[in-house]
Amino acid sequence: MSYPIVEKKELAPNTVMMQIHAPLLTKKIRPGQFIIVRVTPNGERIPLSISGWDGDKGTVRIIVQAVGRTSTELVRLNRGDSIEDVVGPLGQPSHTGQYGTCVLIGGGYGTGAIIPIAGDLKALGNKVIAIIGARTKELVLMEDELRAVCHRVEVSTNDGSAGVKGLVTDVLAEILKQEPVHMVTAIGPVPMMKAVSEMTRPLQIRTYVSLNAIMVDGTGMCGSCRVGVGGTTKFACIDGPDFDGHQVNFDELVYRQKMYIPYEKKAMELCACK
Ligand SMILES: Cc1cc2nc3c(=O)[nH]c(=O)nc-3n(C[C@H](O)[C@H](O)[C@H](O)COP(=O)(O)OP(=O)(O)OC[C@H]3O[C@@H](n4cnc5c(N)ncnc54)[C@H](O)[C@@H]3O)c2cc1C
Ligand code: FES
Repeated sequence: MSYPIVEKKELAPNTVMMQIHAPLLTKKIRPGQFIIVRVTPNGERIPLSISGWDGDKGTVRIIVQAVGRTSTELVRLNRGDSIEDVVGPLGQPSHTGQYGTCVLIGGGYGTGAIIPIAGDLKALGNKVIAIIGARTKELVLMEDELRAVCHRVEVSTNDGSAGVKGLVTDVLAEILKQEPVHMVTAIGPVPMMKAVSEMTRPLQIRTYVSLNAIMVDGTGMCGSCRVGVGGTTKFACIDGPDFDGHQVNFDELVYRQKMYIPYEKKAMELCACK
């Protein structure tokens, strides 16, 4: 079975939004879950967060950033092309509930991933503040859509071309001075999730991070996505991807993420998608 791409939009250089027709998946999705796709019949499987879905149209929305061979092959596909396999929804849903004031932080594709979580938290009566972080203005993703599901949205860019000049943690520090925050969720690059967790740890603010560990099967069988959380081993695909940021062994995560770099470089060199 193959899964047609029914819509594609470029959001930023090397980053696209795609709507995939996968009607059976849409019946069970909860915010925070992800899919695993195989782009071509002999290709590898890569995990992608679900950034939205439409049960009536039977579509699942993903935001893809081209960083290596498989993500580049996917980003090059167009409306009308098909993806070989789509498996999901996978993983535990995010920790949505009634907290009070929640700050959701997105970097890169993580901004797409926080949209369904923000919608759920707002519907449950929370005050929802989002922070989007990017290197520069043209990499700020999905700001308008996020504004529609949040009470407040702040942007930070490294070069100051949009929003506050600085990092998401600079914006978070300001918000923490302004009002009590009861829950923080961060999705994006590991250094960002680690920095957010370090900032909220002394304040004992409940903090969740979505771990982008290397995944293969997504069903807890292969062990490739193992992560250290609170001194125990967890599988990000079935126990996560969200975990308590104060308990995560980020150094181990970074080490394991880099394990296949020589193979990833070789795969890119051999790819017709270059
Ligand atoms: C739960 C989860 C949700 C994710 N959501 C998104 C998303 O919504 N959008 C998006 O663009 N990216 C997302 N990612 C990251 C995405 O899976 C990787 O960028 C992709 O697998 C890279 O593959 P590649 O062949 O293009 O690049 P490669 O050159 O093979 O790898 C580049 C880097 O990506 C990571 N990576 C490689 N293979 C995998 C793999 N099988 N599983 C996880 N990480 C891998 C490694 O850190 C690696 O160094 C998510 C990852 C996880 C675990
Ligand atoms: S991806 Fe294989 S155990 Fe998680």
